[in-house]
Formats: sequence, C-alpha cells, structure tokens
Amino acid sequence: MENFNFYSPTEFVFGKDRENECGKYVKKFGGSKVLIHYGGSSAIKSGLIDRVKKSLDSEKIPYVELGGVKPNPRDVLVYEGIDLCKKENVDFILAVGGGSVIDSAKAIAVGVPYDGDFWDFYTYKAKIEKAIPVGTVLTIAAAGSEGSGDSVITKEDGMWKRGAGSEHMRPKFSVMNPMLTCTLPSYQTACGATDIMAHVFERYFTNTNEVEITDRLCEAVLITMVKETPRVIEDPNNYDARANIMWAGTVAHNGIVGVGRAQDWNSHGIEHELSGLYDCAHGAGLAVVMPSWMEFVMEHDVMRFAQMAERVFGVPMNFADPSDTARKGIKEFRKFLKSIGMPINFEELGAKKEDIPVLVEKFGLGENGKTGGFVSLSSKDVEKILNIAAEATI
Ligand code: NZQ
Ligand code: ZN
Repeated sequence: MENFNFYSPTEFVFGKDRENECGKYVKKFGGSKVLIHYGGSSAIKSGLIDRVKKSLDSEKIPYVELGGVKPNPRDVLVYEGIDLCKKENVDFILAVGGGSVIDSAKAIAVGVPYDGDFWDFYTYKAKIEKAIPVGTVLTIAAAGSEGSGDSVITKEDGMWKRGAGSEHMRPKFSVMNPMLTCTLPSYQTACGATDIMAHVFERYFTNTNEVEITDRLCEAVLITMVKETPRVIEDPNNYDARANIMWAGTVAHNGIVGVGRAQDWNSHGIEHELSGLYDCAHGAGLAVVMPSWMEFVMEHDVMRFAQMAERVFGVPMNFADPSDTARKGIKEFRKFLKSIGMPINFEELGAKKEDIPVLVEKFGLGENGKTGGFVSLSSKDVEKILNIAAEATI
C-alpha cells in the first residue's frame, strides 16, 4: 500500500425528509445569502425546490435562484451564476439536483472569488486557491459529486468537456434522501448505477500490490450495485434498495475506496469525449467504453480481472486458464449493463464510428503522449478501444 492522506470533510445528512433541514446546515456553515442552483424541471415538479425554500425561510436566510442546468453542464450558465452571485453578494451556493447541478455550482463557487476566467481552472492554466462554500441536496445517485472535490463542465463553444479538482470544491454538507431518487426514469437510474460501478473500477484496476482492504471495499460496492440496481429498476419505490445505491454512489467516489493505490481513469477520459461530442448521458457512455477498455488492457494483469470476475460476478475460477475467467467476467459486466437497459456499443449510444478520429484528437494525447495509471495508453490505443466499443456485442 502507498502512503496517503485522506481528508473528506463533507457532512452527509442522510435519510427520509432530511431536505427540510437544509436551512439549518446552510446556517451551520456560515451562509447568510444563498444561491439555489437547480436543473431543468424535476426538482420543481417534485416540490423539492419549495421545500428547500421553506427550510431557508424558517432560518430567515435570504436567497436568489438560478435554474436551467443541463446534463453535461455548460460554461454559459456558470458565467451567469458568477455574475448573479457577485451582484447579489451570495456567500453560499445550494445545489439541488444531480452531478450536473452540483458541478455547475462548484464552478460558480470557484469563479466568484477569482479575477480571471473560471475556465482557466478546467484547462490547468490556474490553480484553485479559494471558493465560496457549496452544499447539496442530491436527487440522483451517480456522479458522486456530493462527496467529491471534482467538477466537470462543458464549454459550449466546441463542446469541450473538461474537469477540475480541488479540496476547495468539496461540499460542506450533502443532504441525501433516497426517496428523492424514486422519481428517476429507469434509464437515468441505470446510467447512475453504471457511473458508480465505473468509479470503483477506475480504482480497482491498479498496479499497487497488497491493497486487500481497498480491494474488498471496492468489491463490496460493486456487489451491492449488482444486487440492488435490478431491484430499483423492477420497483422504483424500493426505499432500502435506493438507500443502498445512494450511499454506494458516495462511497464509490469520495476517495475512501481508492486510498493508498494507483488509479487509472482512462475510461472516464475517453467517455468524456463521447458525452462532450454527442451530449449523451455520462453513465451510458461509460457502459460502452468501460468493458471495451477492460478487454483491451486485460492481459496487463489477468489475475486481477479474474479476481473481479470471481468475486463480483461469481464466475468460477479457471486455474488452468485465468484469461478465460477474466474474459467471462467482462462479458458478465456487459450482460449486466444490457440487462439494466444500458447501451453497449456505438449504435445503441447514438455514436458514429466515423467520428473516432475526432474523438481521439479531442482526447488530446497527440503523437507521443501517454496517459493512465493502470495501463498507459497512446492515441493509437485509444483508437483501438473506441473501435472495440463501436462494434461491441455480448
Ligand atoms: O434537469 P432535471 O430536470 O433535474 O433532470 C435531470 C437530468 O435530466 C434528471 N434528474 C435528476 N434527478 C432526478 C431527475 N429526474 C427525475 N427525478 C430525479 N430525482 O436526471 C438527468 C441527469 O442528471 P445529471 O445531474 O446530469 O446526472 P448525473 O448525476 O449522472 O451527473 C452527470 C454529470 O456529472 C459528471 C458527468 O460527466 C456529467 O456531466 N461527473 C461528475 C463527477 C464529479 N463531479 O465528481 C464525476 C463523474 O465521473 C462525472 O464525470
Ligand atoms: Zn463518472
């Protein structure tokens, strides 16, 4: 195991009706003027925004509102949010929604105290030094942004999807009421489940030896997702299954299952080019990319893939031919994704094979660049993975 620091100071406020306490938590973390930031329509339709406002009213905390965050959140609304916060002297942002809303809120939060263009943080031109505090009321188990220090924004001009990370962006608190996720369409539920599993796999496939504790924590999250996702697809109002998935989503991405080990993250990088170009759901893009990446890199550490196959998907270990076990595990993963309604190839995702050169170019490795913590990939490798993804079948 490698040395590590783990500091994940978000306060999680978990359970039924807890959104009615969000005013109390804004006060606890020093908010005196709030921006309520939300998405398209779901949080208004469900009455959640009204309940949030009531909770702020009961603590006599004034607020302004900015809705309209799109999935794959755009820079355009971030600029609007920064201007609004400056004009209204906002000192706390309350994100009510999913990863897109939370990421947009984080971008506004770092943009407000910064003199330059907030996009500098997403192109590594500037380092995040401060942010106004963010709290969240989560409505979808997926991105893990409620407990992460990351934010992913798409620049509309050119559809460049890029991420930034900083401890300053980690939410002060996150309200997590699993009941709020019962209104999700099953496709969104499944996209979220795929993303949660992908966050674990990015950490699970590692070159670090002797990481039994985090291997087992990763497997616990994955096994939970394999068990609980079909239950909520079958019965969207199953509270306990929703609750397990919601907490799994946070555990998968707040850092705890990845400490002390090298991580990969190439599947996410490749997927961000797909959702950047096609504006598809991040989880759906991962369903197409991640098993294809697995097939491509499997031989790098066949025993690790065989271990995953056996422990997560119950594939019997073929000691004479561990590659066979590994391959069957990847197949089981694809079958699982298909069974919950995810696309598994380009056609099902709405992507085009002829766009592969564009996707590779946008990925940005150039002729000699390489990236990835498990297997270091070149542009040619990324192209090969996208070709596997384009034609994938079960
Ligand atoms: O806009 P509304 O009407 O709210 O609809 C949303 C949206 O259409 C809907 N939705 C959310 N909660 C709902 C609901 N519909 C009914 N009932 C509810 N309770 O779901 C749709 C998707 O929402 P979105 O916020 O986009 O989903 P998700 O949480 O999957 O976030 C995806 C974004 O997060 C980024 C992704 O790249 C993508 O841009 N990621 C962020 C990460 C981070 N900050 O740490 C890490 C991830 O790997 C990921 O890259
Ligand atoms: Zn993700």
